[in-house]
Amino acid sequence: MHVSVLLKESIASLSIREDGIYVDATLGYAGHSSEILKRIKKGFLFAFDQDQEAILSSEKKLATISDQYEIIKSNFCFVKEKLAEKGVDKVDGILFDLGVSSPQLDEASRGFSYHQDAPLDMRMDQENPFSAYDVVNQYSEEELSNIFFRYGEEKYARSIARNIVRARQEKPIKTTFELVDIIKASVPEKAKREKHPARKVFQAIRIEVNHELEILENSLLDAASLLNVGGRLVVITFHSLEDRIVKNTFKQLTTVDEMVKGLPNIPESYLPDYRLITTHAISPSEEEINDNYRSRSSKLRVIERIK
Ligand SMILES: C[S@@+](CC[C@H](N)C(=O)[O-])C[C@H]1O[C@@H](n2cnc3c(N)ncnc32)[C@H](O)[C@@H]1O
Repeated sequence: MHVSVLLKESIASLSIREDGIYVDATLGYAGHSSEILKRIKKGFLFAFDQDQEAILSSEKKLATISDQYEIIKSNFCFVKEKLAEKGVDKVDGILFDLGVSSPQLDEASRGFSYHQDAPLDMRMDQENPFSAYDVVNQYSEEELSNIFFRYGEEKYARSIARNIVRARQEKPIKTTFELVDIIKASVPEKAKREKHPARKVFQAIRIEVNHELEILENSLLDAASLLNVGGRLVVITFHSLEDRIVKNTFKQLTTVDEMVKGLPNIPESYLPDYRLITTHAISPSEEEINDNYRSRSSKLRVIERIK
């Protein structure tokens, strides 16, 4: 089961109008989409996900609420094109609840979890031909080390990468537990006593397989460009790498161009099209963290189109 994170806060941040058009860029198990749908009596919801299993499950759930929605199976990096195909070029609010869902993490066969033995996979989109197996068995030592460092902030990136390359010279690395064993053998004892030693490498491989960070900035810029005046872009992140991209993209969209910053009268056309609603990211309450440990690292940021 997936428990939606920052549900109340994110839905309130969308300032939903009952006749508005909304986009949920990350449908998942429809926690947020259901709440949006309940509030739009005369409006419409477009919900995106690239995971077929999530879509099948959410379809049933949304159908019990209303028929004012359409699910689009696509990566959200195509949000603008996909909506254009439906004749939609402006919407009143867009939500991104980034990362993976609990069922994706918990279902052993998806290969996301270092707690369960399964073939190395980690694809959110089951039609994507490129999986964790390819990253682990095909990337050079330097490429592996770079992604572990950049996407996992893994201190022992080099020795883990070296040991992966050494192990796969004997035979391909096929399963999550084979990879976990290599990681355990590559880090000092003290690193094993803290959190799970494979946590950061698994995060890094998952980000690489799904191109999670590469597509984020452009997806947010496209989403922002779709907003009507008064429309909100609401984003929930789960780790600092994602949050940094959201924070910087929002800063870029909401601050005055450097070129004109010092001018006494800034021409209207140089003023930003968006304003920041959250000067500081919103975090989950203690109560939410107690109820749902997965929410502990989440952050919510919001901007609004003003012209
Ligand atoms: C954290 S879950 C969303 C949970 C949802 N808000 C709920 O309350 O049930 C993230 C979902 O977004 C999907 N997803 C992540 N990145 C995506 C992308 N680039 N394009 C489309 N879907 C994506 C994942 O497959 C997953 O189902």
